[in-house]
Amino acid sequence: MKIQLVLPEEKETHLIAPFFEEDTNLNFVMRHLEKNDGDLVQLFLKQEKKRDLWSTSFLFLPSQKRLVFIGKGKKIKWDHRKARLLVRCVVVAMKQHNIQDATIDARAIVESADQLEQTLTIIGTEATMAEYEFTKYKKKSKSSAKSLSVAVDKNFFTKQNKDALSNGVIIGEESNKTRTLSNTPGGEMTPALFAKHAKQEGEGAKLKTTILNKKQIEKLGMGGVLGVGKGSDEEPYFIMLEHAPVKQKNDNPLVFVGKGVTFDTGGLNVKPGSSMHEMHMDMSGGAAVIHSLVAIARLNLPVRVIGLVPVVENMPSGKSYRPGDVLRSITGTTIEVLNTDAEGRVILADALGYAQKLKPRLVLDIATLTGAALVAVGTYANAFFVNKAQDPQLVKDIGEKSGDYMWELPLWEEYEKDVQGAYGDVANMGKSKYGGTIAGAMFLKEFVAYPWVHIDMAPTMTANSDEFLAKGAKGTGVRFFVELTKSFIKK
Ligand code: BES
Ligand code: MN
Ligand code: ZN
Repeated sequence: MKIQLVLPEEKETHLIAPFFEEDTNLNFVMRHLEKNDGDLVQLFLKQEKKRDLWSTSFLFLPSQKRLVFIGKGKKIKWDHRKARLLVRCVVVAMKQHNIQDATIDARAIVESADQLEQTLTIIGTEATMAEYEFTKYKKKSKSSAKSLSVAVDKNFFTKQNKDALSNGVIIGEESNKTRTLSNTPGGEMTPALFAKHAKQEGEGAKLKTTILNKKQIEKLGMGGVLGVGKGSDEEPYFIMLEHAPVKQKNDNPLVFVGKGVTFDTGGLNVKPGSSMHEMHMDMSGGAAVIHSLVAIARLNLPVRVIGLVPVVENMPSGKSYRPGDVLRSITGTTIEVLNTDAEGRVILADALGYAQKLKPRLVLDIATLTGAALVAVGTYANAFFVNKAQDPQLVKDIGEKSGDYMWELPLWEEYEKDVQGAYGDVANMGKSKYGGTIAGAMFLKEFVAYPWVHIDMAPTMTANSDEFLAKGAKGTGVRFFVELTKSFIKK
């Protein structure tokens, strides 16, 4: 789908008319219409009963154009989150009702001019994400949405605003690529195929791309990655991508670490049937890291960023790691395996330990780590933790700004004993049946010696049905990491 900035004079396409319950006129729609059509709109608006949030209705104009009314609900309840959803709702309506080209006035989405640039980026991203469908295994279901025009006044029709919109599209495209990686079945997205994809994408975006194989992983002493990977016929990999702009190439990097479990059966602690089928998405954090780096490179952000992704398949077999095993991580800290299904933290331990060598200014890891995170925060927020060296407010703010919403949980000393090992330094499962997400974070903390943020994205691995996104992977992380990286640009 083409997404472009246009002037209000543009009159060729169908028109999107978002309106609040209380609206009695729609000036910013009217100016796109001939006078007669405008009168019809006013009449329609007076009579229309469907005024609820996201209700959609149509008006056919004599000029052959269609007007698509979309309810924005009550004015007082409108906020930046709904603005994001509105963009997606528009594209979904276009797809559902076979509308190929449509124009939406930017003023229907943003009210103050000083937020226009930022909003155009959001429009580019969200429209692109709403258009996405995972059709690799379907008889072609081609999207009918061909172009979305965003109308702005002449004085806002600038290069800067056009860039804002197309930069948004880049973020949307990379988010969609993480969704495709996640949606692809485990047998067709093995560690080797995942690493190959990372290499292609990394090199394509001119990132410094390094893929370590099993031998090299052994040499580094990554006992966690090796342990988890043992049960599978597929060998593990460790992916490193670096974005180092010339002027910032000696800066301490931002480091993003992603969990790359291409399929999580649970290992010998095999998962019960009903909780296994979506576990081909257990590499969603790793996918987000890879495509965040690609997005950051495509956007030319002047910040040094490194991405690390350990990639394994967690399988039961005669060669699997066992409950009771003690693994030696890259930092020398030993891991007592109490449950082979708590594998994500075990591979992340090595990646977080490795990050120390990079002299990072800040490390963030993102992982589909615990089912307990869904119990804690439901399916609309990600759970996050920070250590004492990092301010949680930044994470919350970037979450709000990016659309990957974040909610903090405690990383307190009180919880430390929960993951204390009996035979190893740290146990990969908490002793308590409560606070499983916190136990995961407390475990990871043992491998960290820098400012750090842990994001448990299990709650948002898949899209909710009311989010105007295709069923399946939601593409969490890319928007967040790009926004975070922007906040590190030196002013
Ligand atoms: N990948 C799962 C967590 C998960 C569950 C992600 C549901 C997305 C949706 C993780 O490896 C896992 O199995 N965690 C265990 C940990 C437990 C054994 C301590 C869990 O959550 O049950
Ligand atoms: Mn698991
Ligand atoms: Zn897992």
